[in-house]
Amino acid sequence: MNSELDILILAAGLGTRMRSGKAKVLHHLDGRPLIVHVCETAAKLDPANIFVVVGHQAEEVTQAVNTEFSDQRIKFVRQEKMLGTGDAVASAREALAGRDSRLLVLSGDVPLIAEQTLRSLLDASSAATILTVTLPDPTGYGRVIRSQAGDFERIVEQKDASPDELAANEINSGIYCFDTQKLFAALSKISNDNAQGEYYLTDVPGILRQEGETVGLFLHSDPLEIEGVNDRRQLAEMETRLRARTIEKLMLEAGVTFTDPSSVYISSKAVIGRDTVIYQNVTIEGSTTIGENCVIRPGTRIVGSKLGNGVEIRDNCLIADATVGENCVVGPMAQLRGGAEMAENSHVGNFVELKKTRLGKGSKANHLTYLGDATIGEKTNIGAGTITCNYDGTHKHPTTIGDNVKIGSDTMLIAPVTVGDGASTGAGSVVTKDIPAGELVVGVPAKSKKSAQACE
Ligand code: UD1
Ligand code: CA
Repeated sequence: MNSELDILILAAGLGTRMRSGKAKVLHHLDGRPLIVHVCETAAKLDPANIFVVVGHQAEEVTQAVNTEFSDQRIKFVRQEKMLGTGDAVASAREALAGRDSRLLVLSGDVPLIAEQTLRSLLDASSAATILTVTLPDPTGYGRVIRSQAGDFERIVEQKDASPDELAANEINSGIYCFDTQKLFAALSKISNDNAQGEYYLTDVPGILRQEGETVGLFLHSDPLEIEGVNDRRQLAEMETRLRARTIEKLMLEAGVTFTDPSSVYISSKAVIGRDTVIYQNVTIEGSTTIGENCVIRPGTRIVGSKLGNGVEIRDNCLIADATVGENCVVGPMAQLRGGAEMAENSHVGNFVELKKTRLGKGSKANHLTYLGDATIGEKTNIGAGTITCNYDGTHKHPTTIGDNVKIGSDTMLIAPVTVGDGASTGAGSVVTKDIPAGELVVGVPAKSKKSAQACE
């Protein structure tokens, strides 16, 4: 057996059945494009090369792969006219010329294939090995026809199949492992004399068998891994089933409580700790990590964020690209974004927005506040209605607030500005100058209470 592994991912088709202006492999499942799922799995197999065959919206597909997933081994091959899966593979002929390797062929529209399944397929590999599964309803798939002895005979596409052949319920997954050179030799012999007038890759295993080569069938048991996405209904069904699987794993293996598993959306990349409770209508996207003993109340969406242990997120919050320390309380109706960071035991209350801001240990901003580009120390209290005026119309400026500060209600902090440790502002102050440690300022523009009295 050849030791080197090359991978070819077919992703040039438009996917007419999606009824979309967007190439099928760009549609999202579990928060990222179908093609990215396949590339991620491919990369785990330690191949020498990964070739992605692109055609329809080649630039967009290339960009989607390159931006969401960076791997030097991934290269792109152009299929000029979409003449079928056999033609798609043939477009990599030059790229693979002289390669003494095994070639794993994957489909850009079969996104959930697991690394372990592919490893087993590669172990079993002969001149060609086809990954198959039996489906109660095989409609739409190529059927695998076996001889009476149970050996592989050929694959017949749905549109070319006789009624007898249609009754076969073992289907071709569109995933194969070939001896690279034997594949390209057989590929020269396929024709487009079939119901769709296409060059079918599926004819290659039949040709190899006729030439006396061994063609293996690798019958897998999990249909979800092997199902392809051809239309939006299949995409939605796959999303639903993947989500159910993710939630089940979180309940049974991680010990997470869901009050209503059917109404939550949880990314398969989310990591959630023991005894955390997720209420109904919660969305958790991307690579989010949530600690143990947290409570995520209804209506909240958390994207690509990290929450420590014992955090409570109250109703209807949006938390994106944020870090929340242990035992923090957020919400209801709060927004954390753009690298917002809450140190342990800090609180953010209703209608409070934190952008690119760090709130120190035990500090509080409990009502109606915007904190942007700010660094806030420990045990500081930010009064209701406080705003860091961080944008002068052209540039963003920072606000720095020390420890044990008391910012009075409705204070405007005109950045760049620094408030020293232990300082305070009166209600309605407009702070235009730095406040020294321990000082109280009031008024518009805010003046030190001592100097304000001196002027009276
Ligand atoms: C294909 C198989 C079928 C199998 C099914 C599994 C063929 C002829 N049929 O059918 O036996 O059961 O997959 O999901 O191979 N593509 C290109 N260039 C083309 C045509 C397609 O790159 O010219 C790509 C598509 O983007 C897609 C993949 O190949 O990612 C499969 O193409 P699709 O048209 O979806 O094939 P199916 O009809 O599903
Ligand atoms: Ca398909």
